[in-house]
Amino acid sequence: MKTLILALLMTLVVSCSSNEPQNTPITYGDTIALPQPAPQGGLTINEALWLRASSREYADTPLSLEELGGVMWAAAGINRPENSHLTAPSAMAVYSVDVYAFTPEGVYRYDAASHTLVRCAEGDHRELSAMQEFAYTAPLNLVYIADMAKYDRFRMAPEQSLHYAGMDAAGYAENVNLYAAGHGLKSITRGLLRREEVLTLLGLGDHYKVVLSQTVGK
Ligand SMILES: Cc1cc2nc3c(=O)[nH]c(=O)nc-3n(C[C@H](O)[C@H](O)[C@H](O)COP(=O)(O)O)c2cc1C
Repeated sequence: MKTLILALLMTLVVSCSSNEPQNTPITYGDTIALPQPAPQGGLTINEALWLRASSREYADTPLSLEELGGVMWAAAGINRPENSHLTAPSAMAVYSVDVYAFTPEGVYRYDAASHTLVRCAEGDHRELSAMQEFAYTAPLNLVYIADMAKYDRFRMAPEQSLHYAGMDAAGYAENVNLYAAGHGLKSITRGLLRREEVLTLLGLGDHYKVVLSQTVGK
């Protein structure tokens, strides 16, 4: 009953919250310009917290451009242009983690400054971003990859910097989980994926670590 009421509420909120287009199809290419994140929208934080749950069943229904943009902004978008800080916190403000979107049409790196997705590899590589079949056909898998060289100046033990990178990525992923719950999407944070194959595909060297992944869909 609680879920039904929240679902009805969410339909109302989504349909009333904005006159902006909400259902633009994604056009894949070398870059994908994402729509500016809406100042309002979705359920309240409390409602999203009540709904947040890991899902392991996804339709192959694509996300809209607005949903894709909202998810990327929730993960690692800029919410304070004066200092370029993000929607998620980062230990020592190092921001070592980049977010890669594995889509049916290619792999894209999210560039927060321009709020665009920049293609790094063509084709469907979703099977590298997971070890569970539900992810292979879900419309979006995110892979969180840390540039460990960004911690060099702190001279900390490798396990400490890896710990920080993992914590940063978990914060990004939880932002996405809450955004998804608040916007009628499903999601799951995942640790299982083909880490070495992802780094090889993207041509990323030894100082990069794949720290986490996530599926988002309907
Ligand atoms: C860091 C992390 C890694 C996870 N990795 C996986 C995974 O690889 N595969 C999976 O099916 N679930 C994964 N999960 C989801 C957990 O299994 C799930 O959160 C847990 O069962 C509790 O269920 P709930 O999220 O619905 O509350 C992961 C969760 C976290 C936080």
